[in-house]
Amino acid sequence: RIHPVILSGGSGERLWPLSRAQRPKQLLSLATERTMLQETAARVAAVPLCAAPMVIANDTHRFLVAEQLQQMGAAARRIVLEPAGRNTAPAAAVAALFLSAEDPEALMALIPSDHVVQDKAAFAAAMEKAHAAALAGALTTFGISPSRPETGYGYIRPGKTLPAIDGAYRVAAFVEKPDLAAAEAYLAAGDHYWNSGIFVFSARRYLEELERQRPDILAACHKALDGASQDRDFLHLDPAAFAACPSESIDYAVMERSEHTVVIPCDMGWSDVGAWNALWEITEKDAAGNAFLGNCMTQDVEGSYLRSEDGRLIAAIGLEDMVVISTEDAVFVAPRDNTMAVRGLVKRLKDAG
Ligand code: GDD
Ligand code: MG
Repeated sequence: RIHPVILSGGSGERLWPLSRAQRPKQLLSLATERTMLQETAARVAAVPLCAAPMVIANDTHRFLVAEQLQQMGAAARRIVLEPAGRNTAPAAAVAALFLSAEDPEALMALIPSDHVVQDKAAFAAAMEKAHAAALAGALTTFGISPSRPETGYGYIRPGKTLPAIDGAYRVAAFVEKPDLAAAEAYLAAGDHYWNSGIFVFSARRYLEELERQRPDILAACHKALDGASQDRDFLHLDPAAFAACPSESIDYAVMERSEHTVVIPCDMGWSDVGAWNALWEITEKDAAGNAFLGNCMTQDVEGSYLRSEDGRLIAAIGLEDMVVISTEDAVFVAPRDNTMAVRGLVKRLKDAG
């Protein structure tokens, strides 16, 4: 079986003003009635190969996380809490250490909590293949066919096929977050995949690789788990030990450098809903290409995403390809193709206190 490890520690700043420090993207209902965390729990629960999930989240969100899982009837096997995020390599290390202490042969799947996967059957089928690859010692990820030169993703060039597993390839090159020129070249070459950010491997293999590449991270995570305290379903990592852990993503720490990486190309209707434009893309739209959520009144509006969260009326005339988000304490307006820039705005807000 595969132990799903749901990563719920990100902030999702580009979906401000909906996404906030107190309620980040994965704890919001964005594309469906359920929150993204709940959708993620449901997606893994539907894969017969998967055991009950473990969730790794920030300590400050523990009650929201527990409540959202409970609403699903999806009691998590354990909720591991980080005093502060150290990115994905340490989160994966803590999970791997925990699982391998119970079962040295444990297989795990790192599952981001803030992605949309429209084709659940394709996801389940890909998990089956990844299971086989992980059993054979691979660090496996799913490859998504790229549609734009996105610089926020990892790019994978597939190499030789894995003879035993249909549709699995050794990774010839893994480049995390390339610059725009490189991303454009990969797209033009037509042979690269985006890294989905979902990984399947044996806990043992991951720990071996981390020991080789980043023993400092492994040592810090060991300490953080040794000093952890249990309180009901919550496992609080040792705050001082985890704070001392370097912050790094699994992509930079391990995937770019490992020789055991495998990619399974998979067309599963994947989106990481990185910004408002991505949410517009996956939302059902009217004939004019609009998605209106909540209290909206419009005239001559095209290709736009309007969302009123607070009951306030959004009244709009003559908009084209715009995003308008109204929340209790902020209204956000931007051209739909420029919603990545919101990150800079959020930074200015934070700096201004
Ligand atoms: N527990 C925990 N702690 N989870 C975290 C932390 C942390 O410190 N940091 C991030 N996460 C969670 C996020 O909530 C998200 O679900 C997942 O881990 C990935 O983190 P992101 O911060 O969203 O990574 P990214 O989008 O920059 O890049 C990754 O995903 C891309 C696809 O969406 C990489 O794997 C890329 O290669 C990939 O293309
Ligand atoms: Mg992401």
